[in-house]
Amino acid sequence: MSKVTVVGAGNVGATCANVLAIKGVADEVVLLDIKEGVSEGKSMDMMQTAALLCMNSVVKGVTNDYAATEGSDVVVITSGIPRKPGMTREELIGVNAGIVKSVVENVLKHSPNAIILCVSNPMDTMTYLIHKATKLPKNRIIGMGGALDSSRFKYYMSQALGANANEVEGMVIGGHGDTTMIPLKRFATYKGIPVSGLLDAETFNKVAADTMVGGATLTKLLGTSAWYAPGAASAMVVSAILHNEKRIIPCSALLKGEYGESDLCIGVPCVLGKNGIEKIVELDLNEEEKAAFAASAAAVHKTNAALADALK
Ligand code: NAI
Ligand code: 2OP
Repeated sequence: MSKVTVVGAGNVGATCANVLAIKGVADEVVLLDIKEGVSEGKSMDMMQTAALLCMNSVVKGVTNDYAATEGSDVVVITSGIPRKPGMTREELIGVNAGIVKSVVENVLKHSPNAIILCVSNPMDTMTYLIHKATKLPKNRIIGMGGALDSSRFKYYMSQALGANANEVEGMVIGGHGDTTMIPLKRFATYKGIPVSGLLDAETFNKVAADTMVGGATLTKLLGTSAWYAPGAASAMVVSAILHNEKRIIPCSALLKGEYGESDLCIGVPCVLGKNGIEKIVELDLNEEEKAAFAASAAAVHKTNAALADALK
């Protein structure tokens, strides 16, 4: 029996729970929110799709009842406020740091062996906060951002190529921020063919630029941040862990010297399996990519420095 708790039954959390259930990723999904009745209502709504979609997973909604999360294999944290148009992810730190810290403490009381997947923004800093607050082994704390940003990169490449997004490969590393993420153009392929040989430089640069502001573009259109792709990306990461898939997915991981950086969580390619982050893959970056990664890490360190104030 596999069990996943999703904390936060808002747009991203509910979508994640729904994808986990519809795709049968977990046998049991507990959806927890602080708002009275919301998780219960959304879970019941999802369960009423079971007969329509041949869904076998069970989704249970609870209001702040952590006892119901007992024995979870993976806990996804989406609680907190999302960005509004014109806001950066970093501006959410003050409110979200307090929420994430208290949620993780509650979660671990009932699921001391769980792998924690952090989605709440600013995600790299919230993931780092979880490391600092819990001191859990580093493989068990994972930040979700690169999975989403890479999917957006593949989307924009597929649009430019007129190709199926499933046939395009590409990774985004670095911080999960509009100016800090790094779409790795040099490593992107379409059916094994380097995309850099298929798109002219101007078009490919625009694909990368659109990817970087992918979240902001949607926030402007929707009035709040996106949820379908964030929820699905979170569920995909959960699947890689629960099913021991050994997939390489860019995730925010605590670095201890990898990529020349330490004492921060930032997006790097990770092999995900039943132990969480089983390996960090060190890519052979060129000088330009190395400089971009160092600049991204410096920006994440700067946001991390604001944590102490945020938690006072
Ligand atoms: P939302 O506002 O729709 O949902 C957040 C939910 O958290 C609300 O239902 C709220 O009641 C709940 N909540 C607040 N405090 C809580 C607490 N102490 N315990 C339990 N539940 C609590 O927001 P949305 O759109 O679902 O976004 C959630 C977070 O995910 C935001 O911080 C957003 O910026 C982030 N996000 C991160 C992405 C990523 O790639 N890492 C992508 C998209 C969103
Ligand atoms: C996103 O990338 C805002 O992190 C959120 O959609």
